[in-house]
Amino acid sequence: MGDFDFIDRSVSNAEKHTLKEKLFGTQEVLPMWVADMDIATPSCVLEAVRHRLEHPIIGYEIMSKTAYEAQCDWVERHHGWKISTEWLSYSPSVVASIGCAIRAFSDEGDEIIVQSPVYPPFYDMVRSNNRKLLLNALMQDAQGEYRFDLEDLKAKITPKTKLLLLCSPHNPVGRVWRREELIALGELCVQNGIVIISDEVHCDIVFSESTHIPLASLSPILSENTVTLMGPGKTFNMAGFSISTVVIASSQLRERYRKEQHKVHYGDGAVLSHVAFEAAYSQGDVWYQNLMNHLSTNRAMIEQWCIAHPVIGFRKPQGTYLAWLDCRALKMGDRELRDFFVKEAGLGLSAGLSFGKEGSGYMRLNFAVAREVLQQALRQLSEALVRNGYG
Ligand SMILES: Cc1ncc(COP(=O)(O)O)c(C=O)c1O
Repeated sequence: MGDFDFIDRSVSNAEKHTLKEKLFGTQEVLPMWVADMDIATPSCVLEAVRHRLEHPIIGYEIMSKTAYEAQCDWVERHHGWKISTEWLSYSPSVVASIGCAIRAFSDEGDEIIVQSPVYPPFYDMVRSNNRKLLLNALMQDAQGEYRFDLEDLKAKITPKTKLLLLCSPHNPVGRVWRREELIALGELCVQNGIVIISDEVHCDIVFSESTHIPLASLSPILSENTVTLMGPGKTFNMAGFSISTVVIASSQLRERYRKEQHKVHYGDGAVLSHVAFEAAYSQGDVWYQNLMNHLSTNRAMIEQWCIAHPVIGFRKPQGTYLAWLDCRALKMGDRELRDFFVKEAGLGLSAGLSFGKEGSGYMRLNFAVAREVLQQALRQLSEALVRNGYG
């Protein structure tokens, strides 16, 4: 079997399948929503875990220095950012780190900037920690490219604004932020005493025409003002290992973060995850290059399909394996649009509206699937469009 061949996940309790009925009201959809890949986790990771299981005791273990060194080495090789193992803390999930950082760096009632449309747990973490959302919607330029709206942000910042949640690369719009964009945003935050939580979990899924730049790598000042969230979950399709990293260069911010983290006592996580983490970062390069080729071909396939079906607007994502489909030309309400995708096209996608009101009229399709699954999905969508008079 090839690395990117179809694998049946309906037999393994995959969320994508088990929640189909609840989310879409039917089992009869191709599930292309939650952001994990229908692609096997690299064999080097699976082998390392199998090897560890040859030792029969799965007790408490701590993250080894070599595991963190493997991540530092990966980040330097792939993103040109030199980080130290001392800056790293374990986290069971990036979203958990966002919650912890919110509690560490702000108080109840403070304002936190969220740049909509964005990954829904950003909103949820702000609200459930009793902070106020300060919405700074992304804008689209004349070419339709999403940009930061710094004028809007400047006008909205108040003394209560304490944090900005940055999504870089951006889910769902697929932007890989350019150096000058990041510097302008970062400087505005520094000037206003706003700490940036930079969620860079998609940092490795970036296509060849773009370069991911870790915000904290841009200057010593930005490094001191940024909490970066990274991990192997997206890159190596190992979300189920529940392991990620919080990178904080500033000793002062690190101390505050760790004090908050200490309160929930999740320690260093699970031994099999440590082993998987180290194997991924130290042995995953070749698999990763092949993954990017696979995703790049899938992305091109969607682009070609959209050229042939101009009623669906599409700008190639610069990063992430998520296609942000502009369905506004179908002139359907959001409920109707969702029903159209489920009932007519047999596709279970994420509704754009779930990312914020700016996502109205969009659907997000996860294209990290086997080639034939994507072909099937596009075929189903073509047929649904034709049947409904959009062909
Ligand atoms: C931007 C972003 N952050 C975080 C996550 C989830 O990470 P975790 O499962 O480690 O909480 C996702 C998953 O889709 C994501 O897109």
